[in-house]
Amino acid sequence: MAFQRASWGSLLMIAFAVLIPSATCASDPLKTSLKPKYTFDQLWDLEKTFWDSFLYPANVKQTEGNSSSVFAPNVQGRVDITRTFDGDELNREYIFGLFSDPEHVSLVGVPIAYNITQFSANENIASATTIVTFNATTFGIVVPVTIDTWIMWDTDGKITQYDAVFHFIIGNVATKINATSSDQAVGYVSDLLAKTICATHEQYCTGSDQQYTDTAACYDFLTKDVRFGKSYELGRNTMLCREVHEHMVHYRPDIHCAHIGPSGGGYCVDDMTYTQTVLQSYFNESWIPFGYEGNQRMGR
Ligand SMILES: *[C@@H]1O[C@H](CO)[C@@H](O)[C@H](O)[C@H]1NC(C)=O
Ligand SMILES: *[C@@H]1O[C@H](CO)[C@@H](O)[C@H](O)[C@H]1NC(C)=O
Ligand SMILES: *[C@@H]1O[C@H](CO)[C@@H](O)[C@H](O)[C@H]1NC(C)=O
Ligand SMILES: *[C@@H]1O[C@H](CO)[C@@H](O)[C@H](O)[C@H]1NC(C)=O
Ligand SMILES: *[C@@H]1O[C@H](CO)[C@@H](O)[C@H](O)[C@H]1NC(C)=O
Repeated sequence: MAFQRASWGSLLMIAFAVLIPSATCASDPLKTSLKPKYTFDQLWDLEKTFWDSFLYPANVKQTEGNSSSVFAPNVQGRVDITRTFDGDELNREYIFGLFSDPEHVSLVGVPIAYNITQFSANENIASATTIVTFNATTFGIVVPVTIDTWIMWDTDGKITQYDAVFHFIIGNVATKINATSSDQAVGYVSDLLAKTICATHEQYCTGSDQQYTDTAACYDFLTKDVRFGKSYELGRNTMLCREVHEHMVHYRPDIHCAHIGPSGGGYCVDDMTYTQTVLQSYFNESWIPFGYEGNQRMGR
């Protein structure tokens, strides 16, 4: 597949690298040779395939089985308002499982429609803006969310890396519940989420997975000891972060119980400054085409 799609240019580049090894050429071109070169139409189809599988109820199917038709086994994913996610299983839980149960208490509910409004693509990478409509069944409202993505695919058409930015605002709930102030709305949502998280803890986090002594301690911790959190703090020491991870607990309690507990399990923690977050270097493959890196400039 790779070689069928590889252009003569890249084959020449490999030959060139083999003949004239240098510090930068010696290791990279072999990796580069495995990079597929898709046509624009193919990349558009790959992008649509991803979003089609994101929608409910197609996303339920993605959570089942033990390997993915969408993600490569070692996929690296980052969602700005949460954190980074390594590997197929974890990514299927977060990207598909999180939004797959309309009956369960949830902030945004299930995605029911999308519209790609901006799209550009080259080789094996596409950048897009997608407006996804969520049916927030818990609150009886429909919420559009803008999601910006960079996605990279391998030769099998599976995602090896994605970087997503959610423009997500927790809105509308106040009017929906007839709250007279935002404090009142937060109080209502906070109570609802804490009860949900603690019920899940009670049911699944037992034995060595137990995080709180009992449901009362759980409720107290969530409503008094951590902040509710802003919509960009779903990967911080907040109630909102624990609400995100609560959806994952039933898949693998041994992995996810710690995330809803007091420690935050490395996910719901305040361990990074603003600057560290911005400068975080996470992805193994460069998002800049080969040969165009090293574009940093200092102003005077
Ligand atoms: C996938 O799961 C099924 C049953 O759940 C099991 O029989 C099969 O061996 C698993 N495959 C892999 C590759 O782990
Ligand atoms: C990315 O690089 C790190 C550090 O070299 C390595 O531990 C990790 O396995 C790599 N991940 C992938 C998906 O290649
Ligand atoms: C999708 O977005 C385009 C703009 O890119 C707009 O013209 C169209 O009306 C949108 N469709 C829906 C269903 O929102
Ligand atoms: C949202 O979900 C509810 C409950 O399943 C359903 O009754 C309603 O029709 C859905 N709304 C939309 C716009 O699909
Ligand atoms: C909000 O007010 C409307 C109109 O007065 C009422 O129908 C609805 O039940 C109220 N909702 C809640 C959650 O109290």
